[in-house]
Amino acid sequence: MSYFKHSVSVYWRVLRSLTERATGGILQCELWEKVMQRFMGKVVLVTGAGSGIGKASASRLAAEGGSIFCVDLNREAVESAAAEITAEGGVATHWVCDVGNEASVQEAVGACIEGYGSLYGVVNMAGILRFDDTEELQTDDWQKVIDINLTGTMFLCRAALPYLVETRGSIVNAASTAALSGLPCGLAYSASKAAIVGMTLPMARDLAPLGIRVMTVVGRSHAWLVEPDGLLCLLGSVFRLA
Ligand SMILES: NC(=O)c1ccc[n+]([C@@H]2O[C@H](COP(=O)([O-])OP(=O)(O)OC[C@H]3O[C@@H](n4cnc5c(N)ncnc54)[C@H](O)[C@@H]3O)[C@@H](O)[C@H]2O)c1
Repeated sequence: MSYFKHSVSVYWRVLRSLTERATGGILQCELWEKVMQRFMGKVVLVTGAGSGIGKASASRLAAEGGSIFCVDLNREAVESAAAEITAEGGVATHWVCDVGNEASVQEAVGACIEGYGSLYGVVNMAGILRFDDTEELQTDDWQKVIDINLTGTMFLCRAALPYLVETRGSIVNAASTAALSGLPCGLAYSASKAAIVGMTLPMARDLAPLGIRVMTVVGRSHAWLVEPDGLLCLLGSVFRLA
């Protein structure tokens, strides 16, 4: 984003925040979303759009005018996510795709281009989390996490690249604080997310001369505290150490 665009965006945010405060929240997001149509006329492909952060990202991008190509492995979830966006007046279509399968990813990008004619943004949110004792981690389980979280992200970046070059677009990849802090019993997950950071940095450098921005979102969660698998695995490790 140019310095000018960035400044305008910052001013809008400050103005929005001040107005919301001054009106006791009466002038809420909906009006500002109409004003801040930053993605008007832009096509964004979001993976993991059937649930959680991917779904929220798709909805937010649509609220700001984007045409969203919602992608997920879960047909029912992605269909309903796209339907929710259109019901709210946004533009969205859905596509079922396994990001861990290169042919499936290429098909999804092809369908997006066929449907919308261009691609400006890619949001790589599809991901899986699993908990395994380090001593008991199975190769298949490790590989599945790496295939979906890491290789799937690379598949989509690579497939989308020719189209992003045309629009000087952007890529957002989902990492996690697990990459940096060591999620208990999250060996494969933490490794996949650390590699996302490792992959995004050189990609950002390589693609900057083409006008493409590549970013990592480092999300933070305490999933291991609230998910039964994670908690049991953690307790198991603690008792073995004691
Ligand atoms: N939620 C958090 O607190 C948090 C924290 C740090 C990082 N993250 C990362 O953010 C991303 C989204 O997290 P979330 O909590 O919203 O997850 P979520 O489980 O709610 O959503 C993930 C989505 O990805 C889809 N998916 C799974 N495997 C797929 C595949 N092979 N192909 C296509 N789609 C597939 C699922 O169907 C699901 O809809 C993930 O990459 C996650 O690792 C999340």
